[in-house]
Amino acid sequence: MTGPAGRPRSSAGRRERGIGRVRPVRPAPEPAPEPAPEPVAPDREALARTIAMVNDKGGVGKTSLVANLAGQFAAAGYRCLLVDLNRQANLADDLGFRDGPADDQGAGLLMSVVAGTPLRPAADVRPGLDIVPGGARLADLVPVMVSRVQERGRDAFGVLAEVLAPVAGDYDLVFVDCPPETTILTDLALTAARWVLMPTKSDGGGLVGMRLVGERFALARELNPDLGLLGAVLFATGSRSRVVHAEVRDAVAQAFGGHSPLFTTSIRHAERTAQDARRLGRLAHELEQEAAAQPAWWAALRETAAGAPPPRRLSTTAASVAGDYRDLGVELLTLLRTAEDPTSTADARGQEATP
Ligand SMILES: Nc1ncnc2c1ncn2[C@@H]1O[C@H](COP(=O)(O)OP(=O)(O)OP(=O)(O)O)[C@@H](O)[C@H]1O
Ligand SMILES: [Mg+2]
Repeated sequence: MTGPAGRPRSSAGRRERGIGRVRPVRPAPEPAPEPAPEPVAPDREALARTIAMVNDKGGVGKTSLVANLAGQFAAAGYRCLLVDLNRQANLADDLGFRDGPADDQGAGLLMSVVAGTPLRPAADVRPGLDIVPGGARLADLVPVMVSRVQERGRDAFGVLAEVLAPVAGDYDLVFVDCPPETTILTDLALTAARWVLMPTKSDGGGLVGMRLVGERFALARELNPDLGLLGAVLFATGSRSRVVHAEVRDAVAQAFGGHSPLFTTSIRHAERTAQDARRLGRLAHELEQEAAAQPAWWAALRETAAGAPPPRRLSTTAASVAGDYRDLGVELLTLLRTAEDPTSTADARGQEATP
């Protein structure tokens, strides 16, 4: 049997799911102290569709991209998992589950890494979209990892791959949202993932962050030789200029060696849509539908009492932003399929990305 992505489904672990329902995650007990569980070699086949969203620079679109890509894929029938490695847990805002039953603030992930308990994603934050939430509890993960690396060396970074592999095979796509400037958590993601996707803005900061990722990428490949660079995505750009795109492509080339994949699709700058999204916990394609369903502005105004402020309306730009994410999703899936096709002669991205 194949999944909607045309990928053979793992026979193990497929489960019946309720649609549109959030199952509470069991509250995790306090993390046990050392000793750490013995490392086991992760099932790399199960992790073959795991994509880490990485850039050391903050605010370049990592969270927006994973939320919207996974949300649109899930709406199209793909089974998706999001893993949030960020203490801020902005995914909880973007998907509107903060402080709800799914929000364990990172406790489940912490327990899995510290004590080896099976990872239990919160099911159906959207139909077909499960999540391993991040949050404040992940602050404890950094000192745990520091002491493990001192004890065992860099092999300790394999722990996320170990706990993720048993569930990853249940999904068509797994996205890992990485924090900015917390290199040790990024190392966990790079050691678990098959692919790196790197959003950037066209300004200097995002490009410097990219260079730092390039260095960590090279180190991660010593533990995870399959790791490949899927590409960079220009985020929140107002420019379709070829010059800007060429500059970004050069920066990727400098960070990752001669290989410089830049996605053709970029995500346009749309501040009001971004504000609506995070304020309401809606994805761009959901705002698109809600904006289309709202009454005409003059009809809404007619209902407003004299002197009252005009009703707040959703920006109709959401439709264009949702279209950008759709195009990006198609481009991403096409690349993955090409890379996975054993008969394809096309170069699988990232295989030569050795800085
Ligand atoms: N299309 C857009 N245009 C302009 N701003 C956007 C757009 N989409 C999202 N934003 C805003 O950009 C900011 C950064 O986005 P996001 O949180 O996705 O970045 P990030 O890389 O995950 O940041 P961090 O590293 O802090 O986790 C947020 O305030 C978000 O609301
Ligand atoms: Mg983020």
